[in-house]
Amino acid sequence: MFFASGLVTLLLSSFAAGAILKRDPICIRIEATISRASNVYYPGDPLYEKGVSHWAGSSAQVSKCVVEPGTAADVGHVLTILGKTRTPFAVKGGGHASNPNFSSTTGVHISMYRFSLVVYNPATQTAQIGAGLIWDEVYAALDPYGVNVLGGRVSGVGVAGLILGGGYSWKTNQYGMTVDTVTAYELVKPNGNVVTVTKASDPNLFWALKGGFNNFGIVTKFTLKTFPQTQVWGGMVLVGPDNIADVTAATAAFASVTDPKASLITAYNYGFPEISLLLVYDGPTPPPGIFDDFLAIPSLMSDIGTKSFTQLVAGFPTDSTKGNRGVFNSISLLEYTPSLLNVILNETNYWGAKLTPKSGAFISYSVEPFLPSIYSHNTDASAWPPYRAKPFQPINIFFSWTDAAFDNEYHDAMRTTTKVIYDAAKAEGQDLTNTLVYPNYAIFDTPLSTIYGSSLPKLRTIKCLVDPQNVMGLAGGWKF
Ligand SMILES: Cc1cc2nc3c(=O)[nH]c(=O)nc-3n(C[C@H](O)[C@H](O)[C@H](O)COP(=O)(O)OP(=O)(O)OC[C@H]3O[C@@H](n4cnc5c(N)ncnc54)[C@H](O)[C@@H]3O)c2cc1C
Ligand SMILES: *[C@@H]1O[C@H](CO)[C@@H](O)[C@H](O)[C@H]1NC(C)=O
Ligand SMILES: *[C@@H]1O[C@H](CO)[C@@H](O)[C@H](O)[C@H]1NC(C)=O
Repeated sequence: MFFASGLVTLLLSSFAAGAILKRDPICIRIEATISRASNVYYPGDPLYEKGVSHWAGSSAQVSKCVVEPGTAADVGHVLTILGKTRTPFAVKGGGHASNPNFSSTTGVHISMYRFSLVVYNPATQTAQIGAGLIWDEVYAALDPYGVNVLGGRVSGVGVAGLILGGGYSWKTNQYGMTVDTVTAYELVKPNGNVVTVTKASDPNLFWALKGGFNNFGIVTKFTLKTFPQTQVWGGMVLVGPDNIADVTAATAAFASVTDPKASLITAYNYGFPEISLLLVYDGPTPPPGIFDDFLAIPSLMSDIGTKSFTQLVAGFPTDSTKGNRGVFNSISLLEYTPSLLNVILNETNYWGAKLTPKSGAFISYSVEPFLPSIYSHNTDASAWPPYRAKPFQPINIFFSWTDAAFDNEYHDAMRTTTKVIYDAAKAEGQDLTNTLVYPNYAIFDTPLSTIYGSSLPKLRTIKCLVDPQNVMGLAGGWKF
């Protein structure tokens, strides 16, 4: 009895001492350097768990600590320490990276949550938005002013990664990619200096940040152009197996729609629901004709209606697979013909049947048609897309599963199915040279040249100038 309680005490005290000793010296040094606007959290703390969490569980890792910087100056202090000690680290915005290690680390994890302001400036028709926000929060904050920015199309997506990689939005047909609407970045450079990067202040770095992710430092704030926002029309429609051919025909025919306020995503899914359609018109009512084919198809469920933009995006939830293993991949296509859509449907069913027994949760192919003019909106150009003369449009392939033992199998299947669709498009006569892969959808081992193409040499030159010590090379992601 006596011995037993003594042993328990001993175990507890050595456990406590061990836990304290285990606190990483770099984390302790960061804690001692940052201001009271920032904090460091250790394993076991709910804010640590929140910090390292990701939309895809496979994109998360156990880090030594989570740093939540509250000021750009503190981000600078943290980067300086990490650079001097060559400590691997990660920067997380909304945590929606579909690739492992892009915003996670076994080193020091930086979560940007505290950069959460949205400031609308009516005089310049711009909004400053913090790098720790998700788009739902930005849309809700701008709603009262009757304006909006170009951001994510479904609920939960982070601001930072989407902007730093390009950004396809529900307004892309009207105004281009999100990068085309950025007017300034507040950037903490790898040497710790806080700068505002604009076209006038540093045209090369401004260009490089439009697609270059975390290669040039940590962005704390973006300034985006705003556009008038009325009520919108749209919602989600689920269609069952009997009507897939109608959906395919309507999706192919949508290529003839020229009204830039109309957009859609057609997702072929394995199992229920076979089809999910996201239909959007950026106005209270679409002119007759545009969506009639879709609306004539018998649906299992539909919540189409006139609503606020915030409500529209909230109505496209993505948490049914949250926390699962996951991977995205993509190619860019010139055209979604009926025959290509049938190849995509066949791939959905083929891989769905094959992978579902292997802890599969969701096998989905999202067709994202855009107008041929979407790359014509930016006269300044950008690191991504590096080539704007071709009207390429992405497909988003998404596999979700639960057992990590199958990771490699899913990654292989993803590469195989992507190639099948690529080859089918080529066999149809699509000239896919210079159709670049969207970095926010590409699987982690995609060669940089097929993403960044002709931008790569210039990106590498700018990278060496801005980050001669390659501090940002200590963080994961697409690395120049
Ligand atoms: C459900 C879902 C829906 C999506 N919908 C769309 C869509 O409609 N349109 C579209 O274009 N894309 C979409 N995407 C892709 C999305 O753009 C990327 O996943 C994007 O990288 C997410 O940004 P994040 O901040 O949430 O990601 P994170 O995982 O936090 O970061 C992604 C990358 O950006 C870097 N990064 C993050 N913050 C900073 C910073 N402050 N400074 C420097 N580097 C930073 C990270 O280090 C990491 O490499 C979607 C993804 C998901 C999972
Ligand atoms: C991610 O990082 C871990 C080490 O932390 C490594 O074992 C793994 O291979 C990496 N995954 C990818 C896809 O790069
Ligand atoms: C369906 O896809 C599988 C896998 O890519 C392929 O082997 C098969 O031939 C395809 N079937 C049809 C009818 O295209």
